[in-house]
Amino acid sequence: MKNEVDKGDKPIRENFLPFSQPLIEKEEINEIIDTLTSGWLTTGPKVKRFEEEFAEYIGSKYAIAINSCTGGLHLALIAGGIGKGDEVITTPFTFCATINVILHTGAKPVFVDIKPDTFNIDTERIEQAITPKTKVIVPVHYAGQPCDMDEVMAIAKRYNLLVIEDAAHSIASEYKGKKVGAIGDITCFSFYATKNLVTGEGGMATTDDGELAKKIRILSLHGMSRDAWKRYSATGSWYYEVIYPGYKYNMTDIQASLGLHQLRKLTRLQKRREEIAKVYNEAFANLDAIEVPFVKPNIKHAWHLYVIKVVLEKLNIGRNQFIEALRKENIGTSVHFIPVHLHPYYRNTYGFKRGDFPNAEYIYDRVISLPLYPRMNDKDTKDVIEAVKKIVKHYRK
Ligand SMILES: Cc1ncc(COP(=O)(O)O)c(C=O)c1O
Repeated sequence: MKNEVDKGDKPIRENFLPFSQPLIEKEEINEIIDTLTSGWLTTGPKVKRFEEEFAEYIGSKYAIAINSCTGGLHLALIAGGIGKGDEVITTPFTFCATINVILHTGAKPVFVDIKPDTFNIDTERIEQAITPKTKVIVPVHYAGQPCDMDEVMAIAKRYNLLVIEDAAHSIASEYKGKKVGAIGDITCFSFYATKNLVTGEGGMATTDDGELAKKIRILSLHGMSRDAWKRYSATGSWYYEVIYPGYKYNMTDIQASLGLHQLRKLTRLQKRREEIAKVYNEAFANLDAIEVPFVKPNIKHAWHLYVIKVVLEKLNIGRNQFIEALRKENIGTSVHFIPVHLHPYYRNTYGFKRGDFPNAEYIYDRVISLPLYPRMNDKDTKDVIEAVKKIVKHYRK
């Protein structure tokens, strides 16, 4: 199969295949140069265009560019009025950022365990976790597979809760024909260097609610009524007012230069991700020591991550040794995620321990994220497959 993605001149490796590498082509580079010589580097016309094109792509009324998904989630909670005394329901099988921003508002994160098939929040357990203090549900669309959003939205409606989606992995995901980003009250995306769409660091919040959008935008830049572009352009005025004690979470035109072109080529990049996932699925189908990702019907997977589950009962080694063996075969990997409740800070501060969320812990002990990104060519994919097969053969019970 021919890899149709232009990898540029630089090979992605000598020997070692990195877990992830972004694909930056000449369009992004030329746009960055244009920005650097334009006289305007920070939030300006390119951010505005990126927001407009992003909202159109998602099908949301508003898109607000932020300097990270973390910042977006933080602002979404604050715009939603979340603070001390409130409870926010989410999953422990996520990146620490999802939880830290809840803590920063003064609210309490309440964990609901995951489903063992999709590794997404188990919607059947959400209602048990609701108390009079619950204000928000934060579903995390793990690896690019959307959560059961019909169920999440129905519960939120019944209990009058806000739904803020952590879609760090899930640009291009769809749930029953609807793009992630056009379902919950606010959705936050990540453009971190390893993500499906990269701006180095960056994020976007989408919503159909004009009030929430306005509040997020103002909070993202010190709480000021007017951004610098509006003040310093020919028709601008020097005057501004601070309406909230805001943050410094705005995206720059340098970041948007990358984002504009990454968005325009997203369909092609996604197609390549899908191709690689399919090749992996077929190659691992007959390996009983490896489980390939489970994908629900009625959804479109964004294939941000390709996560295999090691069947420990079939092997003489554990997951960590499997990763070490892959490293010796020159294959980079990662683990998503160390369940948040097992990190020292949350254990020591909130008394969490192993056994609290058995599904998240069981899955954590078995998962390995394999390389999956458009810059990989067919030889790279083949090397990963051969390495996995070799290790399984060598260590099979
Ligand atoms: C599930 C999840 N949420 C949030 C984030 C934070 O994204 P960012 O680095 O853009 O702040 C990440 C980052 O990897 C993530 O995986």
